[in-house]
Amino acid sequence: MQDFKKSVVYQIYPKSFLDTNGDGLGELRGVTQKLDYLKELGVDYIWLTPFFVSPQNDNGYDVADYRTIDPRYGTMEDFEELAQQANRRGIRLMLDMVFNHTSTEHIWFQKALAGDPVYQDYYIFRPARPDGSAPTNWQSKFGGSAWEYAPQVGKYYLHLFDKTQADLNWENPAVRREVQQIVRFWMDKGVKGFRFDVVNLISKGEYADDDQGDGRRFYTDGPRIHEFLQELNRESFGQDPEIVTVGEMSSTSMENCFRYAGADCGELSMVFSFHHLKVDFMGNEKWVIVPADFGRLKELLFSWQEGMAAHNAWNAVFWCNHDQPRVVSRFGDEGEYWKKSAKMLAGVIHGLRGTPYVYQGEELGMTNAGFTRLEQYRDVESLNHFQILRDKGLSEESVYNILKIHSRDNSRTPMQWTAGENGGFTTGTPWINVNPNTSRINAASQVEDPDSIFAYYKALIRLRKEYDVFAYGDFAPVDQKHPSVLAYRREYKGQSLLCVNNFYRAGCRWHCPMLLEGYRVLLSNYSDSTPAADWELRPYESVLLIRETDDS
Ligand code: GLC
Repeated sequence: MQDFKKSVVYQIYPKSFLDTNGDGLGELRGVTQKLDYLKELGVDYIWLTPFFVSPQNDNGYDVADYRTIDPRYGTMEDFEELAQQANRRGIRLMLDMVFNHTSTEHIWFQKALAGDPVYQDYYIFRPARPDGSAPTNWQSKFGGSAWEYAPQVGKYYLHLFDKTQADLNWENPAVRREVQQIVRFWMDKGVKGFRFDVVNLISKGEYADDDQGDGRRFYTDGPRIHEFLQELNRESFGQDPEIVTVGEMSSTSMENCFRYAGADCGELSMVFSFHHLKVDFMGNEKWVIVPADFGRLKELLFSWQEGMAAHNAWNAVFWCNHDQPRVVSRFGDEGEYWKKSAKMLAGVIHGLRGTPYVYQGEELGMTNAGFTRLEQYRDVESLNHFQILRDKGLSEESVYNILKIHSRDNSRTPMQWTAGENGGFTTGTPWINVNPNTSRINAASQVEDPDSIFAYYKALIRLRKEYDVFAYGDFAPVDQKHPSVLAYRREYKGQSLLCVNNFYRAGCRWHCPMLLEGYRVLLSNYSDSTPAADWELRPYESVLLIRETDDS
């Protein structure tokens, strides 16, 4: 059985991975073609973002049929072929289950609109207030009201995301049974991993006006959330001990995550939380330009590391996914120190206590999209916010500058396989522009190069298999208050791992508070890193050190 603590998950956004039929969209067959590349990297699981039938208003997170593959992505045979080929290489598939909401094109919602009371109870319909306005002042996460009026029903329905993503009513046991059946359907196909999209939003509490915010406090980690997850576990994936699950937890609290991902809680294997990725926001407001707060980043990463360890709960550890800008652009350097900073950021994540996730292209140091015109954007959240920010009076230029940093499209540009046209992603017209820096940043030039970012990720993944301390070690911050160094220590049965990183482009002096005797360099982004009590760390220098004693 694959131990998820020793595993690394690779996330694929199929639409942007590899197009094999020239229509400009990637598909499942593209993933199958690149399995040897993933095997070479050494990953254990592939998380595939949704490829189910969908109008694609939110790139597949608006599911219209959970059991059928959208023809744009291929067929069930393609899926089965992918699963089989992956299995042959010891790679497992993790499917993305979107159960907080369905597309409004889903048959359930269509029946609800047509007046069927059974299906109306699958969703959250509420009457208007006496003045005709929405039932509460809650805001959609993609901007605007979270309620949309359905004239056919004469009521509003709740949509925490796009108005074509209607929230399901988990209070209704029939909805919960439907969801369990869908999970079992994919289990029957041999799927051994599931990611549950924004799953901590499924239990809505009271429907009341929020005078302090956008409404999230009423439905985040809601009153019945643990009960719902335990039931789903019991009735579906929990019946197969080999299955690994991860829940995407939006604006969650650590206390709730102790339970979501606690070893004996009967809920999930692990959680994604996002607090460490809001250090360049203003509170919860992401559509602003503020420098990243490094002290805060460490505080959040480290407190989650310590807290989750103390409660025997498990984190997914990551910088990147399809909703986040590229990390090398965000916390590293796109210029002179591109390679060094990308490796440093990789070292920070892979040394932490948790299961590391690599998002497609991260292992190549892919950068933000660099879009400068609205026509280049595809993401519904970015397009909505363009308008919202313009309506607030910001100039076009300021809005472009914000999108350039925070848009989700930054990570959705196609995989850069080669230096050639469209980065080898498609022979047709890509659905979203390929980053022109594919001439410099691409897989073809990195796979064989022992000094590449790809080689560095490969080494980190291999080390996790070789040294138990990566998977099972405890966690302790080292010199947490230092203004530019991020350092921590892990210990497990006679193995001591020390991870030291200069997070900045300026060199710095670091007085290591620990004795370095007996430690040797396991991996570094400089060929001649020399640990010393009084250490001169070079730009973005990152070193993993190990000390092994025989009390193992
Ligand atoms: C999650 C997904 C994101 C999607 C949203 C609504 O946050 O990662 O891409 O837009 O849920 O389903």
